[in-house]
Formats: sequence, structure tokens, C-alpha cells
Amino acid sequence: MLTVAVLISGTGSNLRALLEATASADFPARVVVVGADRQADGFAHAEQFGIPTFMVPFREFETREQWGAELQSQLEVWNPDLVVLSGLMRLLPAAVVAAWAPRLINTHPAYLPEFPGAHGVRDALAAGATQTGASVIVVDGGVDTGPILAQERIPVLPGDTEHTLHERIKPVERRLLIDVVRGIATGELDLSRFDAPAPTV
Ligand code: GAR
Repeated sequence: MLTVAVLISGTGSNLRALLEATASADFPARVVVVGADRQADGFAHAEQFGIPTFMVPFREFETREQWGAELQSQLEVWNPDLVVLSGLMRLLPAAVVAAWAPRLINTHPAYLPEFPGAHGVRDALAAGATQTGASVIVVDGGVDTGPILAQERIPVLPGDTEHTLHERIKPVERRLLIDVVRGIATGELDLSRFDAPAPTV
């Protein structure tokens, strides 16, 4: 059984979909802990499913690295097989990425490499795109630059607002995320091919 830690910042609707999927007896993965960088509304979903939570408030640390070190020690308590960033609106420091990659994945509400960053939906609308999408990637050292595990196109409709477009993207993100987690758990999706090459001496 693949054990999964999920990191969130907000409402956690994608987290909830993953919790529902993984609660079924035949799903080969279990969420073991949910963490956040703030008092996230999404903690309520974890509590409903009886999943432990932890919070490492970004604003209480002087540097991103100090915040990351505390996040890392919390994750180490649970030692999950996979860490899922599901709406975590913070860049992880390099040491945390290095500790987990490639067992560290992220969902993004755009068709990467188009519209990376914190405002993928807003940026697609601002660019006048007629289509955007949803992606699940392996996290690397950049901003939404890692290898793409799954993605799907979604049309931008006339009159779409950031909210309406995001609400159409999210169900696709959820399906892709659940499929990717299942694939990793069954071994159908082998993350080891994204292992960093061993340093040469
Ligand atoms: C999701 O669309 C996720 O892809 C996005 O935040 C939303 C979280 O929604 N993440 C990013 O934009 C990261 N760059 P949720 O809290 O309702 O699951």
C-alpha cells in the first residue's frame, strides 16, 4: 500500500477527491497525513476522514529554508512513499525538493509548460487563450518545470471568469491526480526514471 502525504494551502477540494478515492478498499494508496503552511480550510476534509494533520505556518519563520526544515521534519515523522502538493501555494526550498524528488508531485491548473506559477488560471484568461488545461508533474527545482506525468486540455469558454474556468479545470485535475497516484501505487507509473543522476566523483 502506497502511503501519501498531501500538502495544501486552501480549500482542499482536490484533497477531498483524493481522500474519497483512497478510502475505497481496493484503492492501492492511503493518505496518511495532510499538512499545510497555514490554517487551511481543507483540514476539515482530513478531519472528516480521520487523517492526522500538521501545520507549519510560513509566516512564523524568518526564511523559506527554516520553514522548509520544519516542514521536512514533520514529513519525516510520517515518512510517506509519496508527497502530493495539492494547492500548496508556496515554493518548497531546494533541500525539501531534493529530499523527496522524484516522489514529490504537484497538480497545476494549466497545460504546462503554459501558464506556470501561482495564477495559472488568471494568466490563461489574461493571455486570451482559447484553451488551457490541467497537469500533474514531478516537482523539480523550478516553478512548475518538472516532468509531466499527466495532462489534459480544457477549453476556455466565452464569458469565463477565473472562478468558472477554475471550477471546470478542478474536476479534470482531480481525475488526473487520482489516476497518477493509482499508477504510482501499482507500479504502472515508475517515478524512478526521474531520479537525479548520481553525482560524479
Ligand atoms: C488547484 O487548482 C491547484 O492545482 C492549484 O490550486 C488549486 C487548489 O484547489 N495549485 C496551484 O495553482 C499551484 N501553482 P483546492 O484547494 O480546492 O484543491
